[in-house]
Amino acid sequence: MAALVEGSSVAVRTSALYDVIGVGFGPSNLSLAVALEEHNTHNPNERITGLFVERQESFGWHRNMLLPSATMQIPFLKDVATLRNPASRYSFVSYLHASGRLAGFINNQTFFPTRQEFHKYLEWVAAQFTDQVLYGSEVIGLRQSPASDTAGTPAYLEVDVCRRGSPLVESVRARNVVISTGLVPRMPEGIQQDDRVWHSSEFLTRFRETNPADITSVAVVGAGQSAAEITRFMYDTVPHAQVYAIVPSYGYALADDTPFANQVFDPGAVDDYYFGTERTRQAFWDYHRNTNYSVADDEVIRDLYRRSYDEDVRGGRRLHVLNLSRVTEVKRGGDETRVLVSSSDVQEIVVDVCVFATGYHNMEATHLLGELDRHCLRDAAGRHRVGRDYRLVADPELGCGIYLQGGTEHTHGLTSSLLSNIAVRSGEITESVISHRRVERELAQALPAEPAGR
Ligand code: FDA
Ligand code: NAP
Repeated sequence: MAALVEGSSVAVRTSALYDVIGVGFGPSNLSLAVALEEHNTHNPNERITGLFVERQESFGWHRNMLLPSATMQIPFLKDVATLRNPASRYSFVSYLHASGRLAGFINNQTFFPTRQEFHKYLEWVAAQFTDQVLYGSEVIGLRQSPASDTAGTPAYLEVDVCRRGSPLVESVRARNVVISTGLVPRMPEGIQQDDRVWHSSEFLTRFRETNPADITSVAVVGAGQSAAEITRFMYDTVPHAQVYAIVPSYGYALADDTPFANQVFDPGAVDDYYFGTERTRQAFWDYHRNTNYSVADDEVIRDLYRRSYDEDVRGGRRLHVLNLSRVTEVKRGGDETRVLVSSSDVQEIVVDVCVFATGYHNMEATHLLGELDRHCLRDAAGRHRVGRDYRLVADPELGCGIYLQGGTEHTHGLTSSLLSNIAVRSGEITESVISHRRVERELAQALPAEPAGR
């Protein structure tokens, strides 16, 4: 049976059993698609079938933060393939070559392209996999195959997919599912998003819906990279607005990207973390959290400071950095937004728009697992146990592979939510899927045939 999901060019074979279904098609699962395809090219007799389900209508990587001057926070060599396969035709260098910009990029003399250029690169790779991606479709849950299957079909997972705008739920079958649904926006407790109170993850969409002339004052909450970039963008793009930067620290702190510290993002650091002790794992966070969280790049910090200093020179202040401050409450009424800022005292500022660049929660797979979660083992702290190969550790009843790309900070360390290691990680997941399949086939061949009549 083949069903064509409306509006999609992908024929989903609802009766087919895919080797791998990827939930989400961001950079992580895009990298997996590349790893699977390169495996198939080199091993035509051992092909792995894959399908990816993505809820966005087309490929998009944090589109709402594609601010004009934002640059990548990883060198371009940490693209979706190079660290696993430096000869890949899906590398950033291949993209530059195909786009006629290789020489021009070299002249630019940077390791860090703009996010806009890297986004174009990711789109270029994704465009080569459109026949494997179901866009505009959301996975709403996973279920296990019926317990008794007399046809000898191996255990499989039912992936329930909902097409946006359609009440129908379609199920697709897979031997393995790779969950990669990304970070989850975090708002301070008790504060709700609305048309005047935004999270950074919706920033550009909200900004484009608003007439800049209506913004006479804006507050940007947080001191991470998102907050710094949005503060600069607002200051430059809405030149008549008062801009309040509400930062918990004394001033924006620098993201440590010096070479020794940067080794925490090397593929080898995953082993050091995974096979380390409680103490060494904790040391990664204690000493190196400042490589990524609540910190900003040198370039944007200096840019903001320069603007602030220029105001001192010119006289007249429009950029107000409220340091050692946290937002505790937002009171909304009509067009009015009152922001309660707690510092040595509590003050209230009234703004037209308040942007919360307050970060993200890690990926959490539990809601997708539903009933299946009872098969997945947890550690003493109640977190999922995850194999080195990113496969959830489960009881034998599960019989299928569920892999995580993201949400493994407790087992695999700092790179779990980042791009640094996606090429290698996707290769490791591919290897794991292949080796489990080999073992299952060998076992099936070793088992005696079913006696007749049963
Ligand atoms: P990502 O979130 O990109 O993709 C998940 C996908 O799953 C999304 O497309 C989503 O629509 C889809 N999805 C979710 N639920 C679904 C469901 N139920 N069914 C179907 N689809 C579903 N890191 C780094 O190393 N270097 C960098 O330069 C940056 N830059 C950066 C900029 C900004 C603005 C942010 C917010 C974050 C970064 N990061 C980063 C960190 C970031 O987590 C990382 O770049 C990737 O987005 C990780 O890719 P994933 O594919 O894992 O998640
Ligand atoms: P983040 O690093 O987690 O920063 C969140 C900030 O919000 C922190 O400073 C936090 O302070 C602050 N905060 C939280 N609650 C607050 C409150 N009630 N009042 C005031 N401040 C509050 O999040 P992010 O900046 O969104 O970065 C997330 C990831 O995206 C990082 O990996 C980052 O590198 C990446 N990113 C990359 C780019 C790029 O590539 N150009 C751009 C943006 C983001 P505390 O820590 O004190 O709670």
